[in-house]
Amino acid sequence: MTVDDCTILQLPKIPDVRGNLTYVEGGVHVPFSIRRVYWIYDVPGGEVRGGHAYRTLQEVIIALSGSFDVLVSDGVNRRTIPMNRSYYGLYVPQMMWRQLANFSTNAVCLILASNPFDESDYIRRYDTFVAARSAE
Ligand code: TYD
Repeated sequence: MTVDDCTILQLPKIPDVRGNLTYVEGGVHVPFSIRRVYWIYDVPGGEVRGGHAYRTLQEVIIALSGSFDVLVSDGVNRRTIPMNRSYYGLYVPQMMWRQLANFSTNAVCLILASNPFDESDYIRRYDTFVAARSAE
């Protein structure tokens, strides 16, 4: 897996003059069964979240409201993906360093995760992550 495996998924969008509607089904619009959903909100200006990797967890990151950047690294290459549409999801596979930054005012970041919360699945040090990637 490289940063090129972090792909933008276009989610179904039902346009309507009363307001648009987007939905997501696990295993259909995202390539895994959704086991957990969480969201990040009320982020003060300039704050950064999520500097870590997961050993096994896959996720889809959605800018439900506002905008932010997702920075991903596979230990060799890096990419910055701007998220600003609520019908796009960024798929991030396991063993990818990822950080969320440059949140706009009132941004809401929704995350669909393939696993329940498990601290032992986290890699929280970048040097540990790079060492684990180069040992693959
Ligand atoms: P974490 O994933 O470490 O976010 P960040 O890298 O942005 O700091 O989560 C922050 C805290 O919240 C951490 O103590 C773990 C806890 N947490 C849960 O208990 N359950 C969850 O589903 C998530 C995502 C986090």
